[in-house]
Amino acid sequence: MITLNVNGQNYQVTVSDTGTPLLWVLRDILGLTGTKYGCGKEICGACTVLVDGRSSSSCQMDVSSAVGHAITTIEGWRITDCRPIPSARRGWARNSRLPGWISRCRNAVTASQGGSWRRRIS
Ligand code: FES
Repeated sequence: MITLNVNGQNYQVTVSDTGTPLLWVLRDILGLTGTKYGCGKEICGACTVLVDGRSSSSCQMDVSSAVGHAITTIEGWRITDCRPIPSARRGWARNSRLPGWISRCRNAVTASQGGSWRRRIS
């Protein structure tokens, strides 16, 4: 049994193989289906979650590697973190990769608040 901190809450999880990708634990055991499967090769970004505030591909991350880190999925966002606009809602329904892309954007915005994002693009 391992303990995962997801969206600010600790979960005791039993997995038969600690090499199981974090994505499947989030979706199949914890029921957090906002994180999507796309390519399974760390290309599309559909499975992106924040691990200690940095975007990570949960399809390529062993669940054992997530122990001791703060994981944030799209379900962990507060309403003040994201103000949906009508076109975004339509896109959400059509595009299963959108939650992962939003997580990546949030990572960039958070970094910009510390000033490091601006330095990276200039
Ligand atoms: S599923 Fe495509 S990057 Fe993880």
